[in-house]
Amino acid sequence: MINRERLLHETFLRELVWLDEVDSTNSQALRWSPARSDLPLLIGAEHQCAGRGRGKNAWWAGSGAVTCSLVLEPQNWSIETAQWPLLSLTVGLAVCRALEEQLRDAEVRLKWPNDVLVQGRKICGILIETVPDCPGRLVVGIGLNVNNSLADAPAEIRETAISLAELTGHSHDRTQLLLNVLTLLDEEFAALGQRDPELLPRCRHRCYLTGRMVTIRDVTSQSTGMCLGLDDDGALQLMTESGPRRFLAGVITSIV
Ligand code: BTN
Repeated sequence: MINRERLLHETFLRELVWLDEVDSTNSQALRWSPARSDLPLLIGAEHQCAGRGRGKNAWWAGSGAVTCSLVLEPQNWSIETAQWPLLSLTVGLAVCRALEEQLRDAEVRLKWPNDVLVQGRKICGILIETVPDCPGRLVVGIGLNVNNSLADAPAEIRETAISLAELTGHSHDRTQLLLNVLTLLDEEFAALGQRDPELLPRCRHRCYLTGRMVTIRDVTSQSTGMCLGLDDDGALQLMTESGPRRFLAGVITSIV
């Protein structure tokens, strides 16, 4: 079980609610958010029966995973609305750094725009949503495979995902890991708010897609090209057959 008192006393959280079961912590956060003033608020759950991923994807997580959603106002870290496209990467960077402390020899990578991979397999997904009628407020959903086994997952997830316990061969203290993630998130959000010039290099250094042939689908089209990395706005740069292109949003549909 999560140690609520430790998380409340040792992080920036003002409130934390940990549920046994919920449809989706992001959906619960969206339902509760308009009435809450005790932010930043973390809503977590031992089980989600309708966990959501990006687009129409579901999020599958077995017992022992960390599934939670932060309700927060980025302005509290001096993060302007114009910088919101960088939030996913910034959260991913914090997760990468927390995992690196547990996985000294493994390559922990950021897969633009919102995944964290280890050994090319997904260990964490991030889903950031705006709160209707609450301008300035966001829900940051984090699904982190910690002590769960992917053995019972549907085949396509089993083949592409991994958990921390599967990588290290032992179980991990979820409170301590979440504490580390939140501490590093606070640090990286502050860096984003202060426009720290080292923030993007920290992301670039961990960018999984750089140097790979990538296909990306955005609202209007699909493009394939060699990934040149992240530009100063956090956009993904591709060298396509028709020249360089940059993407501020999109879905990666294939990687070679
Ligand atoms: C993705 O990879 O597409 C994003 C996955 C985000 C999953 C997390 S789990 C906690 C929170 N609640 C949800 O329903 N989704 C996010």
